[in-house]
Amino acid sequence: MLVLASDHGGFGLKETLKEYLESRNLQVEDMGTLDADQSVDYPDFAAQVAEKVGNNPGSEGILICGTGIGMSIAANKFPGIRAALVHDRFTARMAREHNNANILVMGGRVLETDAALEMVQTWLDSKFEGDRHQRRLDKIAQLEK
Ligand code: RB5
Repeated sequence: MLVLASDHGGFGLKETLKEYLESRNLQVEDMGTLDADQSVDYPDFAAQVAEKVGNNPGSEGILICGTGIGMSIAANKFPGIRAALVHDRFTARMAREHNNANILVMGGRVLETDAALEMVQTWLDSKFEGDRHQRRLDKIAQLEK
């Protein structure tokens, strides 16, 4: 399951990504926001997605705000969450291969739509490399304790 949310700054990109993900026959759950007109608080949406992903092993999330910064700060407060703010295909690939990010974060006000779609595709299609990277993720998990 892929859980998706944005604030008003990421709403347009969220809608585009949702269409793309559904066209890939992925099971998508949209947790809002529902339009770009009302100003909302990104931590509320980061919390919903981070809780869902944290409580459902194997599920993943995508969060979008204006810059992606606020969403990534908020989501990473939750246990088991590795939320990666990515800027291009390289960081999207690394977020999977090295960091095994379970939430991809992007900035709706900083990315062109085509670039964002390529980044999501890259993240979905890349594989975690494990090995020394798993050791580092284990160390991050220790930091949560
Ligand atoms: C909302 O104006 C904006 O602050 C938010 O979308 C995000 O960029 C925060 O990091």
